[in-house]
Amino acid sequence: MQIEKKYKYVITNYFTLNRMSGKTILVIGANKGWAPTPWATFIILRQLTLGIGLAIVQRLAVISSKDTIILGCRDKEKGLDAIQLLRAICNTKAHLDVVCIDIESEASVQAAAKEVREKHKRLDVLVNNAAIALLEKDADIRDVYGKVFASNVGGVISTCEAFLPLMRDTSADARIIQVSSARGSLTRIAEGKMPPARVVSYGASKAALNCATLELVRREENRNVLFQMVSPGHCRTDFNNNTGKKDPLDGALVVEKLLLEERDNGRPCGMWEIEGDNTEPQLVPW
Ligand SMILES: NC(=O)c1ccc[n+]([C@@H]2O[C@H](COP(=O)([O-])OP(=O)(O)OC[C@H]3O[C@@H](n4cnc5c(N)ncnc54)[C@H](OP(=O)(O)O)[C@@H]3O)[C@@H](O)[C@H]2O)c1
Repeated sequence: MQIEKKYKYVITNYFTLNRMSGKTILVIGANKGWAPTPWATFIILRQLTLGIGLAIVQRLAVISSKDTIILGCRDKEKGLDAIQLLRAICNTKAHLDVVCIDIESEASVQAAAKEVREKHKRLDVLVNNAAIALLEKDADIRDVYGKVFASNVGGVISTCEAFLPLMRDTSADARIIQVSSARGSLTRIAEGKMPPARVVSYGASKAALNCATLELVRREENRNVLFQMVSPGHCRTDFNNNTGKKDPLDGALVVEKLLLEERDNGRPCGMWEIEGDNTEPQLVPW
């Protein structure tokens, strides 16, 4: 099934490949991938588990040998293992590298921005995929909100601030994708279109991330940077103990679509999702 997806992807995107070519892309929170038997590709394809970050890297890594994709990970070894896993399961073309980054630590974020500037000299795309959710039952609610907002809002926005100077200096096609969530859609919550949340702080943090991102968009110095938010949908990952209904590769499709399309195609800044049979991104209401 994954092989089919890969070839379908290559064919449908044939004419847009050049648009990506030569880009340097940083995907933060891209280390999660697990296969029971790394030596047996056949078995891996059947039992592979990917986080959405690594699924995004998988989609982008097969496009062009001129691209560089940097996996932003808290633990470098896990990032290197993730690269090995990708090389075992698909025909990676892009140059793959790892940078250590913990978005909860300003020192770590600044060090990562410095390393990318010095080593890679440029950054075209930043995908902020890292996030946490903490169970609220029996926990200190102030503590939970403090941690979740520090990571999912403060951590992501300070990461944007740290990498934006490099992107503005070095890219003619700078794009930032915030991996948000339909759980942060106030309209869907108000209209009862989402089941009640088990972890309210998580959805609230994604609504706040959308709000803070829209303020970045309005800044004059960011006028040449494209910002988009995405909702990957309910994917089968560690995040929900693999209870999600969607393959993470399908969740990653919306990111790939937004990155491959022309930057001046008139798409407004919004939160986008791909659900059901329609493979075109649709707006999620705020
Ligand atoms: N799964 C879903 O159904 C779903 C639905 C809607 C939105 N999303 C969003 O999709 C994104 C990815 O979710 P996922 O399901 O793939 O989750 P996941 O499997 O738990 O992966 C989360 C990734 O973020 C990294 N991370 C967490 N905190 C970090 C930090 N402080 N610094 C750097 N990296 C950090 C984790 O690294 P470690 O291994 O070091 O922990 C991991 O690589 C998240 O933004 C999530 O909110 C997911």
